[in-house]
Amino acid sequence: MIPTLDYARARDQADVLRPFRERFAIPTDSSGAELLYLCGHSLGLMPLNARHIVEQELDDWARLGVLGHEHATRPWIPYHRNLTAGLAYLCGAQADEVVAMSSLTVNLHLMLASFFKPDGRRRKILIESGAFSSDRHAVASQLAWHGLDPASDLIELSPPAGAEVVSEAAIEACLEQQGDEIAVVLWPGVQFRTGQAFDLPRIVYAAHRAGCVAGLDLAHSIGNMPLALHATDADFAVWCSYKYLNGGPGAIGGCFVHERNIKAAPASRLHGWWGHDATTRFRMEPRFEAETGAAAWQISNPPILSAAPLLAALKLFQQARMERLREKSLALTALLEEALRPLERQVQIITPREPARRGCQLSLRILGARQRGRQVLERLAGLGVICDWREPDVIRVAPIPLYNRFEEVLVFAERLTQVLQEIP
Ligand SMILES: Cc1ncc(COP(=O)(O)O)c(C=O)c1O
Repeated sequence: MIPTLDYARARDQADVLRPFRERFAIPTDSSGAELLYLCGHSLGLMPLNARHIVEQELDDWARLGVLGHEHATRPWIPYHRNLTAGLAYLCGAQADEVVAMSSLTVNLHLMLASFFKPDGRRRKILIESGAFSSDRHAVASQLAWHGLDPASDLIELSPPAGAEVVSEAAIEACLEQQGDEIAVVLWPGVQFRTGQAFDLPRIVYAAHRAGCVAGLDLAHSIGNMPLALHATDADFAVWCSYKYLNGGPGAIGGCFVHERNIKAAPASRLHGWWGHDATTRFRMEPRFEAETGAAAWQISNPPILSAAPLLAALKLFQQARMERLREKSLALTALLEEALRPLERQVQIITPREPARRGCQLSLRILGARQRGRQVLERLAGLGVICDWREPDVIRVAPIPLYNRFEEVLVFAERLTQVLQEIP
């Protein structure tokens, strides 16, 4: 049966997480009407309290100048520590294993500087074909940096012909066949274009069994899916905070380094003064003494104004709790799938159908020409619907459990139905 608006409203009424929407700024059109924002997979909305925290930092700067490093409301020198507990919670990691720092691609390079150690025959990197361009640029340039050739040393695993997604079994098979040539497996938690969520423990296990380092890009996973990075045994992970984490445009990114690798002290790590033991950092001595944990990978002092909004956002996650967010997310996305069922001759959902194999996002392909898909997206925008496009032909839509309502999911399906009628 096609779900009705009354049904969706009843679900909203019964939703224990409903009050969280009021703690976000919902974008509006020029008349002040709320937009239908289904784009938290790209840029999460602003927690209202972010403004207060950023203003507090600006006020402290104005009031204290340099003295703010030690005397601000939240002193700036150890600022990253304010984010540790919230990130450890979302990653399922120990506090020492995570650090808020820099940005995603830079962090990926820093992790690869420590964990990509080509050695004889074992010198390749395995990624998915169609990986996010920045990840591909990063690994290809790392190979070249080591004097290797991306044309032969970068393995890009494709879905089988006619399929949209790569199965875990295909990753295992690849590792069984070529694992002894692979130094690092870099895999996403959730694929940015298809919305496929991967079984991370299975991939990490297969990588380790083949003797490879297992690294994860969690850009589309953190704050979207429950994570248990410590137990999963990943060697490292990196993420950005502007998507599901609602940390704001250009927000500070983050890294996870497994305790095992911290204890082993990596053979190489690129250093800067912020990774130095904080108790002796300001002695400015030439010898480097590492901070404890993942914090040793920091290079520079943290960007306070792009870390402050994340404080507000992480607090909301801790209050809402990830297991409740996931439960609501499963229901929202299932409702979206259900509501799109009458359109199945015109709209193909390329995201896996199994709830465990996806997060919030559904990726839609409008059947017909690619041009029709683009027109549909533009027309939806004209109707106040914010979702986005990924080449070559995918519309990404994500209802976010912290701030989207069940009713919005049905309104989206209604507007899409209307647009498809207007653009045959
Ligand atoms: C999967 C993935 N990797 C890398 C990036 C690049 O992130 P940044 O510009 O923060 O380095 C993004 C950005 O959206 C992403 O989604």
